[in-house]
Parts: sequence; C-alpha cells; structure tokens
Amino acid sequence: TAEKPAAFRMSFDPDKLSRPEMFDFHGVCMTHFFTDNWENIQNFQARPDDILIATYPKAGTTWVSYILDLLYFGQIERQTSIPIFERVPFLELIVPSFGSGKDLADNLLTSPRLIKTHFPFQFVPKSFWEQNCRVIYVARNAKDNMVSYFHFDRMNRIQPEPGEWSSYIHRFMEGKMVFGSWYDHVNGWWKKKQTYSKLHYMFYEDLIEDTGREIDKLCSFLGLSPSVEEKKRVTSGVQFDNMKKDDMANYSTNFVMDFKISPFMRKGKVGDWKNHFTVAQSEQFDEDYKKKMKNSTLQFRTEI
Ligand code: A3P
Repeated sequence: TAEKPAAFRMSFDPDKLSRPEMFDFHGVCMTHFFTDNWENIQNFQARPDDILIATYPKAGTTWVSYILDLLYFGQIERQTSIPIFERVPFLELIVPSFGSGKDLADNLLTSPRLIKTHFPFQFVPKSFWEQNCRVIYVARNAKDNMVSYFHFDRMNRIQPEPGEWSSYIHRFMEGKMVFGSWYDHVNGWWKKKQTYSKLHYMFYEDLIEDTGREIDKLCSFLGLSPSVEEKKRVTSGVQFDNMKKDDMANYSTNFVMDFKISPFMRKGKVGDWKNHFTVAQSEQFDEDYKKKMKNSTLQFRTEI
C-alpha cells in the first residue's frame, strides 16, 4: 500500500519562508535548511539495502530517482498519488515547523529505501558506508549544471537569491554555491568511487544520449532484471515530456517553488549553456575550468 508520510502533508504557509544566507560549514557553503538537522543526520541509521542517490544540485537527481522508483515500485497507485520528493526523501533537508527528510526516510517502511542527498561525500552519514549501501552518483557538465541551478535559485524560496547571471558565474567558479563547489563535489565523489566499490558514477549526458543503455547499467549495478515490457515502461515513463506533465514528478505540488518564475522541469537538454554564456564568459570559464580540473581524470561532454 502507498505510504503517506504525514509530516509532509500538513498545510503550511510558504510566505513564512525567507531566502536564507549562505555560510561556511566545515569548509562548504551551506544554508540552515541543510545544516539545522546535522547531528540527527550524522546519526542516521542506514539499512544495508538502502540506496543513496547523490548529486550536486540540478545534475539529474529527480530523473534518476524516478527511474529507480519505477524499477523498484512500479505500482500505479504510488506513481499517481505520492510526489517523487516524498517517495525519495531529501535526507538533509529540514524546514522548521514543517518536516525533515530524515523523518520521512525513517518513516519509509518499504525497503529498499531510496534516499537522496546533495552532500559532498565527506558529509554523508557514516552508517551508509558501514552498511555497505549501494550509492549512485549522477554528475552533469559544469556549464549546464550552473544554468539549471541559476533558474532553480530564481524560483526556489529556500535558496539564496541568484542575483545577476554575470555575477552568478563568478560565484559558481568560486564555489560559493549551496552545497559548495561543483569542482570539489564531482571530484570528491569520483575519488570516493576508487575506494568504495558499491558506487555507480553516472553522467546526465549519457542518460540523454541513451536512456535505455544507462538503465541497463543501473540494473546490472543493482542486481535487477526487469522484463522487456517493464524496461520499456520505465524508459518511456521517464522521458522528459512525460515527467514534465506528471504532477507527481514535476514538483508542482511543492510549496517552496514559484512556478510563475520557472518550471522545475525546465528544458532537460545538453548544451543549453550556449543560450546563457556570452563568448567571453565561456572563454573565461573554460580557462578557469582547465586549471581547476587539471588533476582530474573526469571527462564531461558539454554537447552531444
Ligand atoms: P534543466 O533545468 O536544465 O532543464 P535535479 O533533479 O537534480 O534538480 O535536476 C533538474 C534538472 O534535470 C533540470 O534541468 C530538469 O529539467 C532535468 N530533468 C529532470 N528530469 C529529466 C528527464 N526526464 N530528462 C531530461 N532532463 C530531466
């Protein structure tokens, strides 16, 4: 039967929310929405069959969450009645007098629990590693990731105001973003993969290029073998246009977002950065990127 976590179903006045300040938290830029519950989160008890979906914000978290949710729990009732952000709780999120992702995760009775985090790897509660949980990391090329984050910050009442695009680029390059530097995040998790075998590192661009192929890789990592029909249903269910019109996937029931400013399912493309960066901005960004990524073996595609 469908689980309906009461904590996230209360009526709540979004006008009570104000845009947060960012501050340095153990060397990472954060806001109180993701640090207020720190001690409880650090003591979170993971179960061995929990699956952690980790991403830098706007790298394709919802897409991969939806794929996993369909693979594990394809029931129509769940898909049509529970928003994705309740099926896959956001571990570190806490909204005062409203609820927390950790409570939601604790109340999920059906295993495997699918849990989302934007934490850099060093902030992840240790029980996930101790329990040897499977972890899926999704990375997206820096330029498109930044564009998506910019529009998200415009429409999300619990994110700091993004300001002008031209200054936002510099903030991004300096790592002064909520959840810290994109460069540290993608590289930190990439290094973690070298020592933690149960980490599947995947790319947004690959999902765009061939969703079916990436679902096959996920299934082999997770030890799943869906039938041809099941896989077809998942692959078509998670196409951008389908998710965009699905109220349980498109965040339209989420009170912190202002859809008059921008939709959550915005474009879903590789290369939208070209509509935002000037040639000069792109060159400056690329030069800085080369320096920051010079010791990294990570390769991203900015167009496909
Ligand atoms: P854009 O803003 O570039 O459109 P997250 O879930 O991590 O917040 O990431 C959101 C980004 O993933 C948004 O990018 C959103 O449109 C994109 N996205 C979500 N579902 C998608 C899908 N099924 N196909 C392609 N992109 C998707």
